[in-house]
Amino acid sequence: MKTRVTEMLGIEHPIVQGGMQWVGLAELASAVSNAGGLGIITALTQPTPEDLVKEIDKCRQMTDKPFGVNLTILPTIKPVPYEEYAQAIASSGIKIVETAGRNPEPFLPLFKKAGIKVVHKCTSIRHALKAEAIGCDMVSVDGFECAGHPGEDDVTNLILLPLAARRLKIPYLASGGLGDGSGLAAALSMGADGINMGTRFMVTKEAPIHENVKQRMVDASELDTSLIYRSLRNTARVFKNSIAEQVVDIESRSGETKFEDIQPLVAGVKGRALFEDGDLDSGIWSAGMIVGLIDDIPSCEDLISRMVEEAESIIRERLAQMVSN
Ligand SMILES: Cc1cc2nc3c(=O)[nH]c(=O)nc-3n(C[C@H](O)[C@H](O)[C@H](O)COP(=O)(O)O)c2cc1C
Repeated sequence: MKTRVTEMLGIEHPIVQGGMQWVGLAELASAVSNAGGLGIITALTQPTPEDLVKEIDKCRQMTDKPFGVNLTILPTIKPVPYEEYAQAIASSGIKIVETAGRNPEPFLPLFKKAGIKVVHKCTSIRHALKAEAIGCDMVSVDGFECAGHPGEDDVTNLILLPLAARRLKIPYLASGGLGDGSGLAAALSMGADGINMGTRFMVTKEAPIHENVKQRMVDASELDTSLIYRSLRNTARVFKNSIAEQVVDIESRSGETKFEDIQPLVAGVKGRALFEDGDLDSGIWSAGMIVGLIDDIPSCEDLISRMVEEAESIIRERLAQMVSN
């Protein structure tokens, strides 16, 4: 497949692995890139900008294909030296950055000067248009189905993607709720030039997380995600375990929810520990509705090649036959 995304990012297949806190390490990013997609290292998973540079070097030892870095600019409990992370990325020779969270405008001059292509992840058309206007090279359009932060508009990709096709000039990735070849073909037919996946890449051989987490996601249905932080207007889609259910319960009580009320349940360190020890009810983790369509733990190579094969056969056979007479 040749699209504006494969051309701009210098990759073989139009499939990108989105930034994932605690998951986006060199092991996974290099496996995705070696399989012809674009792997992405998550900057803030590294405790310091110096550690990020080491992780980038490690990834370079594991692949000679392009890979990128995600910089997520969100409110955090502990202040994050974003400027230093951005400097570390720019001086490390990375050529693709995925930004997410807040407006990436303050970092664009630095990234542009370093010849970096910036892909900004947005959950609404108005933010996508803003990203285009400030000079981002591409956007990822993250529908309501997605893992992590879907925003507060609750619009699914069936609406967002065709709208993006009508309004945007720059290429865009469809993100959220994608995990097989039919999703890839559908996204391309709705105007996207490629797709971005998080949850599906968590459930691969190379994802650096405990097998219990992967198996629980294989066993899950499309109903096994919860929306938390709705009352704080910072909604996150996470896997529905007992902790997520407790958070939803606290938020549904009458009166204002304060972050302190739920903080002990959702602490980031607990989520990280869960990925290491596989204790599935000890914290929360991001997961999207696509868990309902995940039923195995393939290598990234097997996953990407079968998705491309399936999408190509849908386009060449099923759809072509429908219009051939
Ligand atoms: C475990 C996990 C952690 C994530 N962490 C981040 C993050 O730190 N920054 C970010 O921009 N997106 C993050 N995401 C969102 C993904 O990059 C991607 O946008 C999303 O997973 C797409 O939806 P999908 O899971 O349905 O494919 C995370 C997703 C998952 C599953």
